Amino acid sequence: MPQIVPGQFPGARPRRMRRDEFSRRLMRETVLTVDDLIQPLFVIEGQGRREAVESMPGVERLTIDELLREGEELARLGVPAVALFPVTAPEAKSLDGAAAYAPDGLAQRAVRALKDAFPQLGVITDVALDPYTSHGQDGIVDADGYVLNDETVAVLVRQALSHAEAGADVVAPSDMMDGRIGALREALESNDFIHTRILAYSAKYASSYYGPFRDAVGSAGALGKGNKYSYQMDPANSDEALREVALDLDEGADMVMIKPGMPYLDIVRRVKEQFAVPTFVYQVSGEYAMQMAAIRNGWLSEAVIAESLLCIKRAGADGILTYFARRVATALRA
Ligand code: PBG
Repeated sequence: MPQIVPGQFPGARPRRMRRDEFSRRLMRETVLTVDDLIQPLFVIEGQGRREAVESMPGVERLTIDELLREGEELARLGVPAVALFPVTAPEAKSLDGAAAYAPDGLAQRAVRALKDAFPQLGVITDVALDPYTSHGQDGIVDADGYVLNDETVAVLVRQALSHAEAGADVVAPSDMMDGRIGALREALESNDFIHTRILAYSAKYASSYYGPFRDAVGSAGALGKGNKYSYQMDPANSDEALREVALDLDEGADMVMIKPGMPYLDIVRRVKEQFAVPTFVYQVSGEYAMQMAAIRNGWLSEAVIAESLLCIKRAGADGILTYFARRVATALRA
């Protein structure tokens, strides 16, 4: 008989606990549930139409009536919330992005329709100007193309108020302007929207993983060779993310978000450990596209989808925006 030294082999045989499903289940730390999922949805003008997004196989842009069908299914599956992304026709885009706050704009109509039909389904709107600007930037630009901070924040406030007016439960500024959370919170409070939650895209990186999204909403063409380095964060940085989160919380954010997901899980962990607030992750379009491409080619098994989401949760996410939400919810309910 070998001598048993506590904590050492053969006293310690970690495989004992992995031997059977019952003990694997008992020691499992993280569980992915339908409660963790938020479905992003692309909305287009028109009736009875769904358009495939080429770089995101399985994802479609929906007219509002089709959006309602999707909402019905998501509500039935128990998905807590959806995040809406309107697609603006080129002729509705302008230098100042004024269509962003039209009371009867596509986003505003989509919110109203969804909240009327499925009051229990949370509706999150994107606060940023890129779908509405002719240059594809998230804000108002000067003659050199530099995105002006304070002028942009003033427009974001109008946009967020129009979303709240339409019934949005959560406004989610994805623009990365300085001081926008404080301005939004003050405007919401002083207009009696005291229940409107703010999900701040606090640590949003200037990432190449957004490519397919920009195709989906049609901002890629407008942006051209432009980039968003003067406001989105440098992928090299991590302390800066903590500073952004601290500022957004001080200014009144209810929830913070890290974006993209998979390559940024160290940031998720640092944010969750340091602030212990509701922390969300956006598994972005490029992460969706690469997994789908590999699955469709037979190079990866479909199991990578649930694994990727589980790992995001393990890193510290309380919830995940993912284009896989409906699919995963369907599987979890089966
Ligand atoms: C725009 C916005 C972007 C995404 C969400 N809101 C793109 C960008 O900043 O260029 C990306 C989402 C995704 O890639 O899935 N403010």
